[in-house]
Amino acid sequence: MNERILVVDDELGIRESLRMMLSDEYEVTTTDGGNECLRLLKKDSSFSLLIVDVKMPDLSGIEVLKRVKKTNPFLPVIILTAVDTHEAVVEALKFGAEDFVAKPVDMYHMQEVIKKALSKSMEKKGRVKKKPISVDEILSENFMEAIQVLTEIIEAKDPYLKRHSKWTTEYAIAIADKLELSKEQINVIRQTCLLHDIGKVGISDVILQKKTKLSREDWEALKKHPVIGEKILENFRLLRIEQKMVRHHHERYDGSGYPDGLEAEEIPLYARILSVADAFESMTAGRVYKSPLSIKEAIEELKTGSGTQFDPQIVTVFIELILEKW
Ligand SMILES: [Fe+2]
Repeated sequence: MNERILVVDDELGIRESLRMMLSDEYEVTTTDGGNECLRLLKKDSSFSLLIVDVKMPDLSGIEVLKRVKKTNPFLPVIILTAVDTHEAVVEALKFGAEDFVAKPVDMYHMQEVIKKALSKSMEKKGRVKKKPISVDEILSENFMEAIQVLTEIIEAKDPYLKRHSKWTTEYAIAIADKLELSKEQINVIRQTCLLHDIGKVGISDVILQKKTKLSREDWEALKKHPVIGEKILENFRLLRIEQKMVRHHHERYDGSGYPDGLEAEEIPLYARILSVADAFESMTAGRVYKSPLSIKEAIEELKTGSGTQFDPQIVTVFIELILEKW
């Protein structure tokens, strides 16, 4: 029997597109509010996963999450969110949400997130995992597990990075998609964006968690993280392209970036995409010492940096995307 998924969103369009997208593989039930969702979960314990929107008129997705985790801690919950709900995402992860997906929903990404959440939940419940049948599958599974471990190391170091890496990944995938990159290329971007700041494991916590503006010395230390990240990934022979993407994600289009001062097309395309996504996320999320910019202000910053910090073609594509989608 197919796994059962409950989708909760007050927007009919989202509910129906998720139903259409998922019903080949899962049995999908939808509902339009938090209270109805809790009622359904109370009377039927056979759901394997819950997808819930943050903003709903009767009960917020966060409130639903809190209540569900009290009665059914093993039910994985995926939060659907919009770009202006950064704070809600932090809260959701704190209260045990398995993951989050940004609206408008990228179907391929959603499938991946669901698969990951379901397989994690099965492991937690101690069910037997499907045995890989070929060497390739075993390698691929080990590889993905290693990526997962690395990602969790970064997140443990600094919870801010979990949200940052996830949003940066969402933006970078959207850019790659708009540039019509192949599925394989988009996969490289997805994996690497999650890992792009792995080098921060080599940076002192004092610097990472500083609540005031960083000193010159702090910046010099922090600037080492792309090279440290590349070194960590060197242990994985399969990750050659990814190593370069991590090394060069702070290069600038005019050659004034670090660590190598590469210029324009010398900077790998993946790193140029990551650089725009990374910067936009940092601007709109803000920092402890810096308040967040509005989307409009962040767009202006991207325009200002176009051709100096960022690849102008990628800035144009990304601004189009922001205006269309978010
Ligand atoms: Fe970075």
